[in-house]
Amino acid sequence: MSYPKIVVTPPGPKAKKIVERDERYISPSFGRAYPLVVKKAEGCIVTDVDGNEFIDMNSGLAVTNVGHGNKKVLKAVHDQVDRFLSYSYTDFFYENYIDLGEQLHEIVPGNFEKKFFYGNSGAEANEAAIKLARWHTKRQGILAYISSFHGRTMGALSLTASKPAQRRYFQPLIPGVEHIFYPYCYRCPFNLECPSCNFYCVDYIEEYLFNKFVPPEDVGLLVAEPIQGEGGYVVPPKGYFPKLKKLLDKHGILFAVDEVQSGMGRTGKWFAIEHFGVVPDIMTIAKGIAAGLPLGVMASRADLQDWTPGSHASTFGGNPVACAAASAVIKAIKEEKMLENAQKQGSHIIKRLNEMKGNHPLIGDVRGLGLMCGVELVKKDKSPAAQETEDVMMDCFRKGIAVVNCGKSVIRLMPPLIITRELIDKSLDQLEKSISIVEKT
Ligand SMILES: Cc1ncc(COP(=O)(O)O)c(C=O)c1O
Repeated sequence: MSYPKIVVTPPGPKAKKIVERDERYISPSFGRAYPLVVKKAEGCIVTDVDGNEFIDMNSGLAVTNVGHGNKKVLKAVHDQVDRFLSYSYTDFFYENYIDLGEQLHEIVPGNFEKKFFYGNSGAEANEAAIKLARWHTKRQGILAYISSFHGRTMGALSLTASKPAQRRYFQPLIPGVEHIFYPYCYRCPFNLECPSCNFYCVDYIEEYLFNKFVPPEDVGLLVAEPIQGEGGYVVPPKGYFPKLKKLLDKHGILFAVDEVQSGMGRTGKWFAIEHFGVVPDIMTIAKGIAAGLPLGVMASRADLQDWTPGSHASTFGGNPVACAAASAVIKAIKEEKMLENAQKQGSHIIKRLNEMKGNHPLIGDVRGLGLMCGVELVKKDKSPAAQETEDVMMDCFRKGIAVVNCGKSVIRLMPPLIITRELIDKSLDQLEKSISIVEKT
C-alpha cells in the first residue's frame, strides 16, 4: 500500500458536511488547524470520512506516541473494559492504579522514592503540581516562562503565556506568578550569542527579579517545559537547565518540568529533561501516556507529598481503563524498542531538514530532539513567516501529510514513535514541495 492516498482534495463532501454540523452545535472556542475529519486510524495512517489516507505527523497532537491501535494497548483496554469501568480512587482502591505507579517509578528520573497523583489531563496534572508546591513549601510564588503552554484551567492558564487569545477576558488569574524569558537562542531576548552569553538568561532572574521585585523566599516553584511545545519547539542549549537548577537550589525553589508534550519517549528518551542532566523535583505527564485515553500524572519526590487526606483528589483521575492503557503503553515502548526508533528516525529528520535549509531561504532554523522536530520559517529579514507557515501546512494537508504549526511560524513534526524511514521520507518530500510552492508565491 502506498501512502498518502488522496481520493478527493480535503475537505471532501462528507468532511464539509460534518464541519457544518460542528459549527451549529459545538463550542467555537477551539483553534482548529484544518478540517481533517477522522474516520479511522491505524499505526501512522489516518483515514478521513471521504476515504483520504494521511501520513500522521501529528500523533493526534502528541498523544498516540505508540501509534494508533497498538495491539498491546487495545488488549489491555478491552480486558479492563470487561472487568469494570470505574470505581473512584478518591474513596476506594484498585490494583492497576498502583501497578502504573510502580512502572512510572522505574522510568521517571531520580534516584529517590517518588509518589504519583493521577488526574485526567495535562492541565490537571499541572494544577496538582501548583497545589503540591504551595502545600509543601507554604510559599505562594511561582515562576513560569514567556511563550509556555501548560493548559487552560485557571491555575494552569496562570502559567500559560503563549498567545493573548488564551487569556483574553479570563484575568485575573491566580496571583503570585511571574514569567521569565525562555532560552530561545535563535531569537535571544537579550540579543546575545550562546555559549559566550554564559547563560545570562539565568543570571537575569537573580539580577532583575530576585534583587528587585520577587523575593526568592516567597517563590516555591518554577515550572518549565524542557522543550517548549506550543511556543515553537524551542530546544534550550545544554547548559541552561543545570545552571538554572543551581539557582533554584540556592533559594529552596522546587523545579517542576512539564513533560505533557515532550514525555513518554517523544524525544528518544522517556522524558526530555533527561537530555539535560538535571533531575526535577516534580514532573507532569499526560498526552502520550495512555495512547489517547484521558490521564494526567503529577509525579514528585515522595518527601514532597506530605499533603493530608482531603487536600487533593479527582473522581475520574486514574480511571482503571486509562491506567491499564498506560501500563500497556510503557510495556509497548520498551518491548517494541520505540525509544531507539525515535532517536534513529529523529536524527534522519533533522539531517534531511538541514539539507533542505541549504536550498530554501524560507527555512530559518531547524531544531529538535528525537521525534519532536521543528522547522522555523522566516522572511528575508528573519521576521516570522506566519502566513507562509499556514500556507505550507495547508498545502501538506491537501496532499495527504498531516502536520501542524506552533509558535509564530514553526512547522512541527511529531509522528508516532513507530514511524518508518519510508513514511518520513514521503512526508519530508511533500513538505519540501509545499515549501517550494509557497516560496514561489
Ligand atoms: C506542555 C503542555 N502542557 C500542558 C498541556 C495541556 O494538556 P491538556 O490539553 O491535556 O490539558 C499541553 C497541551 O498541549 C502541553 O503541550
